[in-house]
Amino acid sequence: MSSTMHMHGGIGESIKRKEDGRFLRGKGNYVDDFVLPGMLHMSILRSPHAHARIKSIDTSAAGAKPGVIAVVTGELMAQHKLAWMPTLSGDTQAVLATDKVRFQGQEVAAVIAETKVQAEDARDAIVVDYDVLPAVISPDGAKAAGAPLIRDEKEGQKDNHIYHWESGDKAKTQAAFAKAAKVVRLHTFYPRCHPAPLETCGCIADVNPATGKATIYMTSQAPHAIRTVFALVTGLPEQNIRIISPDIGGGFGNKVPVYPGYVVATAASLLIGRPVKWIEDRNENLISTGFARDFHMTGDLALDEKGKMTALRVHLDSDNGAFFSDAQPTKFKAGLFHIVTGSYDIPTAHVTADGYYTNKAPGGVAYRCSFRVTEASYLIERLVTNAAIELGLDQAEFRMNNFIQPEQFPYTSATGWVYDSGDYPKAMNVALEKLGYDELRKDVEARRKKGEVTGIGIASFTEVVGAGHGAEFDILGLRMFDSAELRVHPTGKAMLRMGVKSQGQGHETTFAQIVAEELGIPASDVAVEEGDTDTAPYGLGTYASRSTPVAGAATAMVSRKLREKARKLAAHLLEAAEEDLEWERGKFFVKGSPDRFKTIQDIAFAAYTNLPEGMEAGLEGVHYYDPPNMTYPFGTYAVVVDIDKGTGQVKVKRMVAVDDCGVRINPMIVEGQIHGGLTEGYGIAFMELITFDSEGNCIGSNFMDYLLPTAWETPKFEMGETTTPSPHHPLGAKGVGESATVGSPAAYVNAVIDALSPYGITNIDMPVTSDKVWAALRSKGVTE
Ligand code: CDP
Repeated sequence: MSSTMHMHGGIGESIKRKEDGRFLRGKGNYVDDFVLPGMLHMSILRSPHAHARIKSIDTSAAGAKPGVIAVVTGELMAQHKLAWMPTLSGDTQAVLATDKVRFQGQEVAAVIAETKVQAEDARDAIVVDYDVLPAVISPDGAKAAGAPLIRDEKEGQKDNHIYHWESGDKAKTQAAFAKAAKVVRLHTFYPRCHPAPLETCGCIADVNPATGKATIYMTSQAPHAIRTVFALVTGLPEQNIRIISPDIGGGFGNKVPVYPGYVVATAASLLIGRPVKWIEDRNENLISTGFARDFHMTGDLALDEKGKMTALRVHLDSDNGAFFSDAQPTKFKAGLFHIVTGSYDIPTAHVTADGYYTNKAPGGVAYRCSFRVTEASYLIERLVTNAAIELGLDQAEFRMNNFIQPEQFPYTSATGWVYDSGDYPKAMNVALEKLGYDELRKDVEARRKKGEVTGIGIASFTEVVGAGHGAEFDILGLRMFDSAELRVHPTGKAMLRMGVKSQGQGHETTFAQIVAEELGIPASDVAVEEGDTDTAPYGLGTYASRSTPVAGAATAMVSRKLREKARKLAAHLLEAAEEDLEWERGKFFVKGSPDRFKTIQDIAFAAYTNLPEGMEAGLEGVHYYDPPNMTYPFGTYAVVVDIDKGTGQVKVKRMVAVDDCGVRINPMIVEGQIHGGLTEGYGIAFMELITFDSEGNCIGSNFMDYLLPTAWETPKFEMGETTTPSPHHPLGAKGVGESATVGSPAAYVNAVIDALSPYGITNIDMPVTSDKVWAALRSKGVTE
C-alpha cells in the first residue's frame, strides 16, 4: 500500500491523481475508443483555397465508391436550414460552404461510409470547381482600400471590420500623456498559435430513429453549453440531446467551440438512422480548428520624472479569421483585455480594439487563458521591461516602484476591474532571492564587458480567472455559474457530479479532496463524475481556469449544506441538542465529551436507516455557485538567457517561477499545472508559429512545421510560491491552470531583449527563433 493511500486527502495534501491509474494503464476512454453497433465513419473535404467562389460540386463519382452511404454538401445542409450555424460570439459560420470558401481548410463536403478508409477515398473523388479570389491575410490587408469583401453574404456588411471596442477613460488618459515626462512605446505582435492538444477533436453522433434521442460523444470542454446550442440550432428538444464528454486528451480552449463536423455528423446520423463517427486528423486540427491570439498591439506608457507610471494607452487590431467565433462574454468584445494594466498602479488607461475578418480559420479561442488575458499580460510585461531599459532603470526595481501595494486590495484598476487580493512585492522578492538576482546582475554586467550576450527577463503578471460572476459574464447569454451535486451513499462513500469537465487537470482528485476537507469523507471514497449531460448538473464547463474558482466553490458549498443535515442527524443519534455539537473533520462530537461522537459514515448510514421524525431520507444535495467576482492569481517569473552571437541561438539557463494561486488544494497538481504552462509558454515564445503565405496557405499545419516543445528543449523549472487567499472564495483558492502560459512568454522574451539591449535592439516578435535573433544582431553589426 502506498503511503498516499493512508492520507485523508484533504486540502493541501499532495495525494497522487486518482485518474492516473487508468491513464497509465492505457485504460482511458477517449471518443475514438468508442465503437457503436452499426457505426459509420465521416470524412470532411476541405478547401485548398483561402478565398474562392464555388462554381460547382460534383459528388457523382464519390457517391458511387464502395461503402459510401451519403455525400453531404452545403446545398443538402441548406435544405435542412443547417448550412450556417451561430458562433459563440453571435456571428454566423458556414457549416458546409455553399457560396464561397473563406479560409484554407474550410469544410466543403462530407462523405459518410462504412469505414474510415472508404470515407476518405470517396472524399478524394469529389470534384469542386473553384473561382479563386484574392486572399486577405492580415488586419492591414483587411483595412486596405479595395480589399476583397470576405463576408459578402452578411446583410449590411460593407467591409471586413467586425467590431470597435473601447475601455477606460480617454480624456483623462490624454491629459496624463500631455503631462508625461517620458512616453515609451512598444509595437508588438502576438502571433497565431494553436492549442494542439494530443487528442484531436471528434465526435460520434448517435440519433436513435425510434426515440429521436440524440446521444453525442464529443471532445467537449463544455458539454452542457453545447447541448443548449445544439437544441437551439437543430430545434431538437433539449431533453432529447445527451452530450457525453468522456476522457479528454487535452483541451486548452481548442475543445470549447462547436465545429461544423459535429453538426454534419449529427445531421447525418439523424437522416441515416445510424451512428456516425468523425475524428479529425492532425492536419485538420491544426488548419481548421480553434486558433489563438493573432493580435497586433501598440502600447504607450506615460511616466513622470520619478519613473512612476501615470497612464497607459493601448490599441490592438485582432485578426479573427473568416468567422468571429471567439468564446467570450458578450459584454466584453475584446475579452478580458481589460487586465492590460497588469500588476501596476496606473491611475488611468484607455484601450481600443478593432476586430477584422481575414481569410484564415476562425481564431480567438482562449488558448490556456481567459479570453485574451494572455495577450494583455504579454503587452504590459514587455512594455514595462522596455520602459525600464529605456529609462536606464533596473527591471525589478522599476516594477517594485510601480506595483499595486498589498494594502490597496481590493484594488479597482483603471479599466474598472476589482482585483480581489495580491501581494506582488512578496512574490517578486521570493523570485529574486531564488535567482540570487543581485549577484546575477553583476555577473551579467561583467560578462557583457567580455562581449558575451546574456540577459535576465522578468514578468510579474496578474491573471484574471474563474469566469463569472453571472451578472457580467455569460456565454451566449448563459450566466457563468457552475455546479456540484453530492450524494453520500449509506456506507459513507460518495458520488460527486460536476458541471465542469476535466481534460487532464486532475479533477477526480482535487474535487474529492474538497469533499474530504469539508465533510471528512476520505478523498479515496469520493467518486467524481463529469461530462454527461444526462447525469451531471448544468454547468458552463472548464476553460478560463474556472473549475476551482467556480465548481470548486460549489463543491465546498454543497458539502457544507450536507454537513448541516449531518448535524441534525448526529444530534438525533447522540440524543443531544444541535448547538451542543462540535464538528471536527469527519465527525460530530458533544462539546466537552470528545468520546461521544458520530462519524460521517455513522451519520450517512442513519440518513437511510434511522431518521428523526419528519426528516427526509438520504444525504445529498446540489449547489449552483455564482461567484461574486473573478479571482486574480499572480506571480513573478524570471528567466536567464545566453545568446550565441554566431548563430543567434538562445539558451535558457534558468527559469524561476513563483506563483500565487491562493490556497492550493493539491500542491503537486498545482505544480504540474505550472510545469505544463511554462512548457507551453516556452513553445509560444521560441518555437510555435502558424503563419500564412500571400495566398492564404497555412504554414504550420503539421508537427514538422509547427514545433511543440518537449522536455528536451525546455529548461529546468525552479518553483516558488506565496499564498494570498482569495477573500471571496469559500476556500480562499484561485485558479492556476493558465497562469504559466499567460505569464511566461513575456519573461522569456524579456530575457532575450535584456540581453540584446546593449545593442539597441528593443523588440523581436515571437517566436524568437535563432534566425530572427541572428538577423537582429547582424543588423547592429554584432554577429561573429
Ligand atoms: O479550470 P481548470 O481545471 O483548467 O483550472 P484550475 O481551476 O486552475 O485547476 C487546475 C487543477 O489544479 C485542478 O485539478 C485544480 O483543482 C487544481 N488546483 C488546486 O489544487 N489548487 C488551486 N488553488 C487551483 C487549482
